[in-house]
Amino acid sequence: MQAFRTRIRSQLEQRRENQLNRQLNVVTRGNQLMIEQHGDLWVNFSSNNYLGLANDSSLIEAWQNGLTLFGAGSSASSLVTGFSTPHLMLEHQLCDWLGYERAILFNSGFSANQAMLFTLLEKGDRLLQDKLNHASLIEAGMLSSASMTRFKHNDVQDLNRKLHRENTPAFIVTEGVFSMDGDCAPLSDIALQIRDGDLWAVDDAHGLGVMEGEGRGSCAAAQVKPDLLIATFGKALGMSGAAIMCNAELGEYLTQCARHHVYSTAMPPAQAYALSHAITLVQTQQWRRDRLDELSEHFHHRFRQFSGCVETTTPIKPVILGDAESALNCAQFMRENGQWVSAIRPPTVAKGTARIRITLTALHQPTHIDALAQKFEQWMDVYHG
Ligand SMILES: Cc1ncc(COP(=O)(O)O)c(C=O)c1O
Repeated sequence: MQAFRTRIRSQLEQRRENQLNRQLNVVTRGNQLMIEQHGDLWVNFSSNNYLGLANDSSLIEAWQNGLTLFGAGSSASSLVTGFSTPHLMLEHQLCDWLGYERAILFNSGFSANQAMLFTLLEKGDRLLQDKLNHASLIEAGMLSSASMTRFKHNDVQDLNRKLHRENTPAFIVTEGVFSMDGDCAPLSDIALQIRDGDLWAVDDAHGLGVMEGEGRGSCAAAQVKPDLLIATFGKALGMSGAAIMCNAELGEYLTQCARHHVYSTAMPPAQAYALSHAITLVQTQQWRRDRLDELSEHFHHRFRQFSGCVETTTPIKPVILGDAESALNCAQFMRENGQWVSAIRPPTVAKGTARIRITLTALHQPTHIDALAQKFEQWMDVYHG
């Protein structure tokens, strides 16, 4: 017991010394355009609520109606009695929207990713993942009984080399939009590498809702259809949960064998009911994506002058500052000046690439970006002299 305590204490101490300690931020009134804490207000440039749906009044009403119709919780796992009409409707709606035969629902993107890899991989299998894939994918790959290789980020040649090292089929996994860099995977080129017998999965947590007509995401934008598509509901859809989209046979296998599905309480039916409404909003309210495009252009117009600012076509705007201390200092300065941006440090990103991650939502106005750029310039003057 003493050994555990000593180790935990020393690791916490080390995190503090390396400026890697993180804090829980208690937000008073939910994730809106303005973040409120103890009566103070900041402009929120830190949420993944890209389309601004998290506080949409019709979505709140849909969840309230769902509660009235179906109660607070599902009370059981899906294969017992936890799967009800709104879950089935949501599954059908996802299939129609994204063009798959099945949608297997999970309580989070993290558990969907883990379920996919743990269920579909066996000893002796080969798994190839983009180096910058989300922690849920990398961790599941490491813990699975397959042998995992990481290919260089968005590097199709490196993928090709590693894929062809052996003739055996492989499971290839990438993201559509990378969460910390905001860049898009070269999906149409990756699709050309996939051979008969391989399996290909795309986690589109940050592309779904934001990209392509009706918000069908990165794969629709690139006109590709991976074997498995992970649709995550905690970002543009403004809620939480996820689905693995796939064909009927894979869907049946996951239904039977994915332990995060079989042994976990199903999402509340009211949530499934509200998610159906969220999808309808995503499909029909193109103005939210148009607003994001306009804001993105304005952002680059204002931030292009700063070194470290990476141009992206998504609402995720990283400004790379290098060491953890600079990123923390910048985020702190911004916070003292009414702007809430996140400092992202190792191990979430590679050493030497600590950054502030700015995210745009359809709720922002160009004037918010102007104020942010002005404060960032002030920070540069103060910090770099
Ligand atoms: C690419 C990616 N996949 C999966 C997840 C996990 O999704 P969730 O927050 O629903 O667990 C995230 C969220 O941070 C993500 O960025």
